[in-house]
Amino acid sequence: MRTQVGIVGAGPAGLVLSHLLHLQGVESIVIEARSRQHCEQRVRAGVLEQGTVDLLIEMGIGDRMREEGLVHDGVEIRFNGRGHRIDFKELTGRSITIYAQQEVVKDLIAARLKAGGQIFFEIADVSVHDFDSAAPRIRFYDNGEPQEISCDFIAGCDGFHGVCRPSIPANSLTVYERVFPFAWLGILAAAPPSSEELIYCYHERGFCLHSMRTPEITRLYLQCAPDEDLAQWPDERIWEELQRRLTTSGGERLTEGPILQKSITGMRSFVVEPMQCGRLYLAGDAAHIVPPTGAKGLNLAVADIRILAGALSEFYRIGNSHPLDRYSETCLKRVWLVQRFALWMTAMLHQFPGNDGFEEHRQLADLDYLTSSRAAAQTFAENYVGLPTT
Ligand code: FAD
Ligand code: DHB
Repeated sequence: MRTQVGIVGAGPAGLVLSHLLHLQGVESIVIEARSRQHCEQRVRAGVLEQGTVDLLIEMGIGDRMREEGLVHDGVEIRFNGRGHRIDFKELTGRSITIYAQQEVVKDLIAARLKAGGQIFFEIADVSVHDFDSAAPRIRFYDNGEPQEISCDFIAGCDGFHGVCRPSIPANSLTVYERVFPFAWLGILAAAPPSSEELIYCYHERGFCLHSMRTPEITRLYLQCAPDEDLAQWPDERIWEELQRRLTTSGGERLTEGPILQKSITGMRSFVVEPMQCGRLYLAGDAAHIVPPTGAKGLNLAVADIRILAGALSEFYRIGNSHPLDRYSETCLKRVWLVQRFALWMTAMLHQFPGNDGFEEHRQLADLDYLTSSRAAAQTFAENYVGLPTT
């Protein structure tokens, strides 16, 4: 097979890239290790920055998101049993949209297929070759048959555990990493949300987050140990812990309901530099991971793709390779700004094992400042709704 851009991974990064390239008249083929059904049902992110929403609408895949997505103009920060609202709309003029990642993926796959795009699902043993030359190749097995794609460029959009990043010689890359001593236990529950907006909650028993997917489905997260055993968390224990952490002085309780899904998510900050090697370009989780506290992973993946798609189309349109040469440098500026924000939120809101009263006082001072200073709230809001795209 022959195409212009070979894309490894049909997550948000790979699919947005393929569709943006199509809209610019550039051909691509996407290859994906998992089944279409798996990609469309994987429960992950839910918060879209306004820039992400705007891009999806511009790409012509925003109809269902506009209909079903929940637009939020603020969030609540809760500590010491009291809630404090940060009003994004008033502070920045912008909002966020709650629309599940797997719904974005469904919309993107449908749009790609409708436009005649090629996506190979359930392929095996992917390997990338010759990206240090002008004729890179991707090899894989489709239904047990060996296949090869010759292309001009490879986009490594295969997530944190993919094959593209490890295919780059280790001495060409620098890895920056922090692994946190806690994780999130996440649930999806068939219960109407107990608040109209997200609640980020600081509590001595650990961080807790109230989010949602629809007016009938609540998404909740609890800070837990990194090696937490889900079997130790029957539904009653999860609800009891959520009720304790989200308690308010008013004594309102969360609406409970059947738990539809449970998972544990590890927490790390990770950046690889540079995000390119020859004609192989890494994007999204393949190049960087942020702890989920700022809801940035998917949005950052889309921000990389905006840059990569622009650079590739400039190359094909007028033969200018400068934007491609500067791809990594351009992306990393935003990546580190977002890392900084996600780390700050994580450090403010979680209990760190072994920490003493000093940390607790620092966190409470941070929370007090955030919820009492307009300047601090505006800084938070500007980062949360998404920094401007370049
Ligand atoms: P992925 O979505 O991981 O896609 C990579 C794709 O490549 C996958 O489909 C995978 O199957 C495929 N693949 C892997 N290896 C291979 C291979 N060898 N060959 C072929 N295909 C391969 N982000 C936010 O912005 N907001 C949030 O609210 C948020 N909440 C989150 C909550 C949780 C619990 C988790 C786990 C993550 C959250 N994130 C959030 C992060 C977000 O989900 C990721 O950053 C996002 O999925 C990154 O997209 P991606 O396309 O780069 O990678
Ligand atoms: C969600 C996930 C996040 O990481 C976050 O910060 C806010 C909301 C969610 O899944 O809804």
